Amino acid sequence: MQTEPVSAGDFDAAARDAVYRAIFTRRDIRGQFLPCPVPDPVLARLLTAAHHAPSVGFMQPWNFIVIRDAGRKAQIRDLVRQARAEEVRHVADDRQALYRSLKLDGIVEAPVNLCITCDRSRAEGSPLGRWHNPEMDLYSTVCAVQNLWLAARAEGLGLGWVSILDKDALKALLALPAHVTPVAYLCLGYVSDFADRPELESKGWRKRLALDELISAESWAGGGEDALKALIRSA
Ligand SMILES: Cc1cc2nc3c(=O)[nH]c(=O)nc-3n(C[C@H](O)[C@H](O)[C@H](O)COP(=O)(O)O)c2cc1C
Repeated sequence: MQTEPVSAGDFDAAARDAVYRAIFTRRDIRGQFLPCPVPDPVLARLLTAAHHAPSVGFMQPWNFIVIRDAGRKAQIRDLVRQARAEEVRHVADDRQALYRSLKLDGIVEAPVNLCITCDRSRAEGSPLGRWHNPEMDLYSTVCAVQNLWLAARAEGLGLGWVSILDKDALKALLALPAHVTPVAYLCLGYVSDFADRPELESKGWRKRLALDELISAESWAGGGEDALKALIRSA
């Protein structure tokens, strides 16, 4: 048996840096979409990247609905408006003005919208990895979203995830069967710029948490791993 770790040689320093660059410069995009079209070969690469995500039991529970029609986008934008009006009532009084000022979707401006769904019945009868945790199919679908998001960044495309939607209304509008869950509604397109930090941070909604305070050793809230935490703090 091979006891040496696989060499990092097939990812040279530049390739490794490129992976981290995609991770650290990826942004959720709402307001910076440009009207230029997304060529099909690029979209094909992004969807292929999504399709190569890990999935529980290799179930591949996802489907990808490509939405380009302006009328349909407007209908979904209206669902978002409605959902925002409902959501804002649950935001603390002193944050409602800030909430209302935030742009939280680019549905109409983005040339392509994607709905990534999870077919909860795809591997019925063979629940490898899902017997105790049936929600793993949903998590798998989220992995596909993240693959697509990072690949889009590497292609110079922006992507925004829109979750302020009534799921049942979206299902009806997109004619999803009952056993199919819409996991992610995404806006995709070329952008004028990628901000260097999350918009919700720059607009004062929330700050990035300190990573070292989120790490524990051996159990929830277990102390230790001080060297690791110090390294993270000093980075
Ligand atoms: C599951 C999920 C749902 C999200 N829903 C929305 C949304 O409805 N509207 C929005 O503007 N951003 C949405 N976002 C984007 C987050 O606000 C964003 O990821 C976060 O502020 C960090 O910014 P960044 O992605 O640019 O690093 C969502 C992100 C995730 C992962």
